[in-house]
Amino acid sequence: MSFKVKDHYFNLAKKNNYLARSAFKLEEIDKKYSIINSGSHVLDLGYYPGSWIQYVLQKPKFSGMVTGVDIQEVNEGLAKNPRLNLYQMSIEDICELADIGVDKKFDVVQSDMAPKTTGIKTVDQLRSLSLVELVFYKLPILLKEGGDLVIKVFESQDAQNFFKDQKNQFEKINFLRPKSTRKVSKEYFVICKGYKFP
Ligand SMILES: C[S@@+](CC[C@H](N)C(=O)[O-])C[C@H]1O[C@@H](n2cnc3c(N)ncnc32)[C@H](O)[C@@H]1O
Repeated sequence: MSFKVKDHYFNLAKKNNYLARSAFKLEEIDKKYSIINSGSHVLDLGYYPGSWIQYVLQKPKFSGMVTGVDIQEVNEGLAKNPRLNLYQMSIEDICELADIGVDKKFDVVQSDMAPKTTGIKTVDQLRSLSLVELVFYKLPILLKEGGDLVIKVFESQDAQNFFKDQKNQFEKINFLRPKSTRKVSKEYFVICKGYKFP
């Protein structure tokens, strides 16, 4: 069954010229929670290869700007779009907006960042949660008041507790496991709407 799901979204990604099937996860999240608006200023953390960025830039009437950050080498194929700026750096190295070439905070921060997995469940869960914690640590400099955050995390009790503790930072927090997620995957997405600036 999981292979059937894989084939379906793999083929669909190919048909839509998406660089990865992950695009369908963001599409489902966006359709359900209205994240990307026509003029949105979007920060994509862990963008590589760039299917989330493709989804955003191809949205009808999209006239906003997208900044992508990843530790991997810049995807030159994507980089030519005038609405897009890409940086090869770690989230850890973003200390101020100028580090990623902007001077105003983002309407949307989206993070599909995933750690290098070891296959050891507890280690991978901890690494995933560390990336999430880093994003929350940087949010005051990155996300504007009222803005939205979409973020991936691997399932764990610690992750649940972490998000419970963050609930006052946003108007509403929702959890979703998109249909295109592989059955074997332990990831889910947290959709945080309406940032209350601390
Ligand atoms: C699942 S992929 C993202 C796929 C992407 N959303 C797409 O649609 O093409 C996860 C990415 O997170 C990146 N990543 C992991 N740790 C990071 C960090 N500390 N800073 C920035 N990016 C990181 C990885 O290099 C990897 O490219």
